[in-house]
Amino acid sequence: MRHVELKDGADLDGFRRALRGLVALGADPDGVVWSGGAAPSLFGTAPGTGTAPLPAPLPVDAPPVPLPRPVGALIESVVCHRDPERYGLLHRLVCRVVRGERDILDHHADPLVHRLALLDKAVRRDLHKMHAFLRFREVRDPANSEDRGGERYVAWFEPDNFIVEATAPFFVERFESLVWTILTPVGSLHWDRRSLTVGPAALRPEGLDRDDRFAEGWQRYYESTFNPARVNPTAMRAEMPRKYWANLPEAAAIPGMIRGAPARVQAMIEAEAAAPRRRNPDKAVAAMARQEPATLAELNRIIRAADPLVPGATQAVLGEGPEGAAIAIVGEQPGDHEDVEGRPFVGPAGQLLSRALEEAGIERDAAYLTNAVKHFKFVARGKRRLHQSPTAGEVKHYRWWLMKELGFVRPRLVVTLGATAALALSGRSVSVLRERGPMGFGDWEGFVTVHPSYLLRLPAGEGAEQAYRDFVADLRRARGMVEWAG
Ligand code: URA
Repeated sequence: MRHVELKDGADLDGFRRALRGLVALGADPDGVVWSGGAAPSLFGTAPGTGTAPLPAPLPVDAPPVPLPRPVGALIESVVCHRDPERYGLLHRLVCRVVRGERDILDHHADPLVHRLALLDKAVRRDLHKMHAFLRFREVRDPANSEDRGGERYVAWFEPDNFIVEATAPFFVERFESLVWTILTPVGSLHWDRRSLTVGPAALRPEGLDRDDRFAEGWQRYYESTFNPARVNPTAMRAEMPRKYWANLPEAAAIPGMIRGAPARVQAMIEAEAAAPRRRNPDKAVAAMARQEPATLAELNRIIRAADPLVPGATQAVLGEGPEGAAIAIVGEQPGDHEDVEGRPFVGPAGQLLSRALEEAGIERDAAYLTNAVKHFKFVARGKRRLHQSPTAGEVKHYRWWLMKELGFVRPRLVVTLGATAALALSGRSVSVLRERGPMGFGDWEGFVTVHPSYLLRLPAGEGAEQAYRDFVADLRRARGMVEWAG
């Protein structure tokens, strides 16, 4: 029997090293006992202590084991799980890959693959919870008072698995300009604005519950983004389990906001009734059909000069991208940011779209981006302008322009994002989630997919991550259609 000793916690490097040696020796997973992998102790592990037998020597210069990328990603995730059998299971998986089962992860019903998938899912869920529910508290460090008055931030979090190091890039990226420490019972992180130190397990610090300006800021943010019409306490508890409430400043605001929700919904309905009256879309379409622009620039001049169908928008937001682009991407209508900047897809949904396009291998600047409706439709709520979906009549009004526009651009494929764009292109109501994929749009080869703002509205979690991956997969497929056709 061969013993392999790894460090406590998630020892990815140690596991990789051991794996190389074991694969080079052709070791049978049944003949390997893995030690280590428990929670790191509060005081670290002194070298040479512990009851595990000394490991039998493994070759130190064994070559790397070439693995398919998804297997590598699964290993990185699963080593963070608490399950003491994780290393043995991964070793078993790698042996099967090395013996030729390179697509093993596609066999979801395989008991080993299934078990590892559950571990992977648990780790990813834990990572998401730590990203979403960790809250920093401000503390003062008088010893460093010259450096920004000794401003420091500390957070306490209790993850289920050994994920602390794996979350470091996320927190460094978001809070790069602050000095912070994250303490957990399975390890700690310290960032001094230049370098990251990974430290041992910690105890919950005293006095973390008192109010501070960070907590106040979070509470205000949460109140301002709370939608009273969507109150669902059961779903809220499922997404934000009670376990995390003690560390969440905004949790204090929840009971009051639930009590006040009916009154806020009523106020929203009354404001909607007082919104400005709209113009008749049929008359507007008839007027448009008398115009005959000869170029895209001329069409754009007409669109720019036209009154918005629903008053209030700052300007018409025109399509953007090269004439002759292989792919045209059609959204719903400009949002608040697009209305101000006068360019399509520059707000949060646009940023998500850019990321997904990049991941799908589509160059944003080489595509033609436009919207079914050219003006931002909204209702004002104090200083905020809340997006309103266009009616079928409004879509019809703008459709004439959209068809002319595509006629000038002549894309090989039109990708519609969301139901409004699919309605504009197909002339019928489309159930995007059921019908997503290739769809003929008369003159145009088309592809229906979801709108990025649908993805932004999904509660953060596994479902949202999967929906995003599906969106990227759709775009990749659309790209494939164009390459194939070209
Ligand atoms: N949503 C859209 O549909 N289009 C934009 O330009 C921005 C957000």
